Amino acid sequence: MEIPADLGRVLVIIPTYNERDNIEGIVGRVREAAPTVDVLVVDDASPDGTGDLADALAAADDQVRVLHRAGKEGLGPAYIAGFRWAAERGYDVMVEMDADGSHQPEELPRLLTALQDADLVIGARWIPGGTVHNWPMSREVLSRGANTYARLMLSLPLHDATGGFRAFRAATLDKIGLDDVDSRGYCFQVDLALRALREGLRVVEVPITFVERTQGTSKMSRDVLAEAALRVTRWGLADRVARLRQPRR
Ligand code: GDD
Ligand code: MN
Repeated sequence: MEIPADLGRVLVIIPTYNERDNIEGIVGRVREAAPTVDVLVVDDASPDGTGDLADALAAADDQVRVLHRAGKEGLGPAYIAGFRWAAERGYDVMVEMDADGSHQPEELPRLLTALQDADLVIGARWIPGGTVHNWPMSREVLSRGANTYARLMLSLPLHDATGGFRAFRAATLDKIGLDDVDSRGYCFQVDLALRALREGLRVVEVPITFVERTQGTSKMSRDVLAEAALRVTRWGLADRVARLRQPRR
């Protein structure tokens, strides 16, 4: 399967924090699987030297660039910086992808083909055809639970609102408006999906194969979880209050 040319210029944005053992492999796989697509690594001054390794990759390949940020601020601010970088340079499609090999670059053509009839495509684990390899039961329960909670609380017609392998049209990000997004951790993903749906945009899930990392460590933390629980609950309650205030018809 090819990357559809009519989508325009595509940028894959890869946020990194301490991904020294993963960065070269993932960038190489993207370049191999999707040669027409450019890559931006967004590194939050990783203490392990990931940023320097990314610079070396960029020096050897015009289609690879690096955005260095001053410190670790979470996934959300890193992606927003990457989206702005891409918009300034006229990219038509922005793709989110983890650095640790959990998302398969070889599935990019499928994601991008689905974007031909959508405004946001989410690679989904928890739909038929989607799979997860090598996750402990505890992590699967957490992810499924978080998704069920978000679906019920926010009435989301989605099964993997937290998934981090996605493709946005530039126009989608324009419509959503990123200026008042203040989600920092993984709830950033839920935040953007919710905003896209509320704008009436077409959000489509396609099944993906998620493979747990073999190198480095996850940045999931108690804080990331607490932020997600708090924000999803707050969004859900605000929505209910707004609906109660609407006059009955
Ligand atoms: N620049 C930057 N700054 N990158 C970050 C930060 C940060 O503060 N925190 C995490 N990352 C990068 C990691 O280096 C990795 O490339 C990617 O974001 C995902 O982080 P992981 O720590 O590997 O996430 P995970 O495997 O626990 O979580 C997966 O599942 C989540 C919940 O479904 C990911 O797919 C997430 O995107 C997803 O939300
Ligand atoms: Mn991971």
